[in-house]
Amino acid sequence: MKFAFFDTKPYDKPHFERYGKENGVTFKFFETKLNEDTVKLAHGFDGVCVFVNDTVNAAVIDKLHEMGIKILALRCAGFNNVDMKHAFGKIHVVRVPAYSPYAVAEHAMALLLASTRKIHKAFNRSKEFNFSLAGLTGFDLYGKTVGVIGTGKIGRIFVNICLGFGMKVLAYDKFPSKELESTAGVKYVELDELLAGSDIISLHCPLTEETQHLIGKEAIEKCKKGVVLINTSRGALVDSEALLAGIKSRQIGAACLDVYEEESDWFFEDNSANIMEDDTLARLISMPNVIVTSHQAFLTEEALENIAETTVNNIISLSKTGQCPNELCYRGGTAVDCKDGKCFA
Ligand code: NAI
Repeated sequence: MKFAFFDTKPYDKPHFERYGKENGVTFKFFETKLNEDTVKLAHGFDGVCVFVNDTVNAAVIDKLHEMGIKILALRCAGFNNVDMKHAFGKIHVVRVPAYSPYAVAEHAMALLLASTRKIHKAFNRSKEFNFSLAGLTGFDLYGKTVGVIGTGKIGRIFVNICLGFGMKVLAYDKFPSKELESTAGVKYVELDELLAGSDIISLHCPLTEETQHLIGKEAIEKCKKGVVLINTSRGALVDSEALLAGIKSRQIGAACLDVYEEESDWFFEDNSANIMEDDTLARLISMPNVIVTSHQAFLTEEALENIAETTVNNIISLSKTGQCPNELCYRGGTAVDCKDGKCFA
């Protein structure tokens, strides 16, 4: 089987080449992202393999369908970049539901610690032999309250890491976990209570119509003054303009962002020689209390290995049996995992 692999980065290739070769799947690696202009590159392939910032809208799906392409293999968990409603009945969509939830949860904590202990500033200072401590006063995480929005695979691991630090946890989820509910130190609350009661808020829910701009002007006003916001989930969960305003007004004490609303224009690429045209991103990055990483929370050896292995297994499973537990299906107005393989009927 031949797959067109879009938005290739150097770290993708070794694992996909190895697992592909072992299982009879050949990948043609394109550096460009998939979108309406580049979809023609998929001509002659059996399927396409895409990541978070490829555009799989109705027009792209129609073109892939016309070309007879049957499989869209997402090498990520989130699928907000795919028009699932339009894909239904035209193309099988498979994903990697979890590659390393630990990688993302650990990155969220790495950002939090860097921010609260001002490691990003200390690093720069000591590079210039400036060993002054002025302005580097942080605060203990022990005893603080962290609000975790979305207590799925990643959120739960983050909760456990926080409990290990002696923090109290307020949790909010559309579908609370019974197991987590009975864990000492964790309390499920309504969103407003979480916003009002948390010293730190970390987002771990998916981006849907419902969660878009979940953290906007109103929500920020409900937060404790000086709250630290961590977003390692999806950029559009946060209204960036409102975030910037919240930082300027000191309502937000610090922000740790691994994702950004308009990241597809900038992230994953070296833009150091380009003029930064996104004023909001530039302003956020210029703030001393904002740390931005370029959607790298997933990027560990373990995760890359799992992504390649699961993606190849998904492709093999679909092509051999017509079914795959990691297939996504659009049912009842929402995208769900298709366990029975009947969603494409
Ligand atoms: P998951 O599906 O295991 O958990 C998501 C949780 O969010 C579930 O418990 C669900 O009930 C909850 N949820 C859904 N709608 C909600 C709503 N409206 N309000 C509150 N909670 C809601 O997903 P997982 O694996 O924990 O991943 C979470 C997110 O992390 C993904 O959707 C993805 O966007 C992001 N992610 C980011 C990565 C990065 O590199 N920065 C890598 C992998 C995932």
